[in-house]
Amino acid sequence: MAALMTSVAVTAIAPLLVYLWPHPPKGQKKGILTVALDKPIDQLNDGEALRFNAPASPNSAFIMADGGGDNAAGELAFAGFAVKNNGKVSVFAINCSHLGCSVALNAKDKSFDCPCHGSRFHLDGTVLNGPAPVPLSHLTWKQGTDPTTIDVDGIVLGY
Ligand code: FES
Repeated sequence: MAALMTSVAVTAIAPLLVYLWPHPPKGQKKGILTVALDKPIDQLNDGEALRFNAPASPNSAFIMADGGGDNAAGELAFAGFAVKNNGKVSVFAINCSHLGCSVALNAKDKSFDCPCHGSRFHLDGTVLNGPAPVPLSHLTWKQGTDPTTIDVDGIVLGY
């Protein structure tokens, strides 16, 4: 009788456990994504930003490190910017923190501007104008072995 009740309980709970802790889709793997920049990162000028994309083969994405809303830690980005601001290099996901459109560098005003609803960000990622409620999300990175590459935390989505 106990074995029968255990069997019934496992059968009833198993779908709930799979729902709560799904297996990652086959082929997905977190790791470091090495991306090439248009110039060595140590030669960035102040106010200059380099756009880069996540590798497309295999299909990959960067993992956001902070932020909030649609840019919360763990969310994915398919492109980013390395920017030098007041002597410090930062790397951001390209996603606007309002609804996720891609921001673009406004070199004249030294800001990142979103074409969708007008949000603007300082080069340090903080909000200059809404409706974006929170800053751009940083990406976790380090210099690559080559001066024109950076290693960014990401995920391979599939092969
Ligand atoms: S998505 Fe950027 S302002 Fe709305």
